[in-house]
Amino acid sequence: MNPDEEEAGVASAETVGPPSTAPSTSGVQPQVAQHDREQPLALRSVEAGTRGSGHPPRKILVLGATSGIAEACIRLWAKRGDALYLVARNPDRLAVVAADARVRGAGSVGSAVANLDDTAAHPEMLAHAINWLGGLDVALLAMGVLGEQSQAERSFSVTNQILHTNFTAPVSLLTWLANYTAQRHAGTLAVLSSVAGERGRRSNYVYGSSKAGLTAFVDGLRNRIDREGVRVMTIKPGPVKTAMTEHMKGREKFADVEAVAATLVKAIDRGKDVVYVPGIWRIIMAVIRAIPERVFKKLNL
Ligand SMILES: NC(=O)c1ccc[n+]([C@@H]2O[C@H](COP(=O)([O-])OP(=O)(O)OC[C@H]3O[C@@H](n4cnc5c(N)ncnc54)[C@H](OP(=O)(O)O)[C@@H]3O)[C@@H](O)[C@H]2O)c1
Repeated sequence: MNPDEEEAGVASAETVGPPSTAPSTSGVQPQVAQHDREQPLALRSVEAGTRGSGHPPRKILVLGATSGIAEACIRLWAKRGDALYLVARNPDRLAVVAADARVRGAGSVGSAVANLDDTAAHPEMLAHAINWLGGLDVALLAMGVLGEQSQAERSFSVTNQILHTNFTAPVSLLTWLANYTAQRHAGTLAVLSSVAGERGRRSNYVYGSSKAGLTAFVDGLRNRIDREGVRVMTIKPGPVKTAMTEHMKGREKFADVEAVAATLVKAIDRGKDVVYVPGIWRIIMAVIRAIPERVFKKLNL
């Protein structure tokens, strides 16, 4: 990380091409970080290239950009020339993802290093990202932790950490983003929840409950702001081959991350409400939900 980045608390926001002098359309008034005062945010606006994808380039914010699922979506968005602002907590991995997006042809790529557990920093970080993009078409919330169920059973502080990262922090981000997008009557908020939130299971009910809470929040948010012209998408993946599931048995049967990303990018374009991915999980979860509790509690799920 360079000294500017450390001073500002956010990492670099670089354009691939020369930045436009058109004024930002976001109307956000962030607390401007020190290194940005030298280059007024109002002068930053993204002019992303068009790549014949059939629609104008999108302004896309990715929160948790080093997630395996997010990275695969970023590759697809970059290829079609969309403008990307990437936020993650690991600076080295974030730099690799950002560089890869540039090479693949993203219209522009900005980034910020942030631990998204720090909810107090969310408003400034989000305002900065949207000012840099010059607006917002799509926000993808991808951060999450599986956590250690056996440790969480013994320790509330472990449980609380899982609930914070998977529920409280996304709720903080979404509260700000919902108000921003609803005021502008535009935008898509896409949130990675999980099929694990559909029924509490003995083997992962702590993670599952964090995702159940997130699903309920996102579903309710959609019902609040869909009429304002904002699409809110609840994404429910089944098991996917990413770092999160690296240690799990039967991994060879899990969904391929590139296929999952292709489905998600299409669903985000279409503004779907609820997406099970792969789609078979809609049926599997309907069956799982239908199992009577007296039977379910005897299963080793
Ligand atoms: N893979 C699956 O089977 C599956 C199934 C259903 C739902 N999901 C959900 O899909 C989302 C993406 O998961 P994935 O499969 O892509 O797993 P992943 O590769 O492990 O990605 C999780 C990401 O969240 C980031 N993260 C965690 N805490 C953070 C924090 N406090 N601040 C910033 N970033 C943070 C991680 O950053 P670090 O790398 O720095 O830790 C990592 O980039 C998660 O919400 C997950 O719960 C995954």
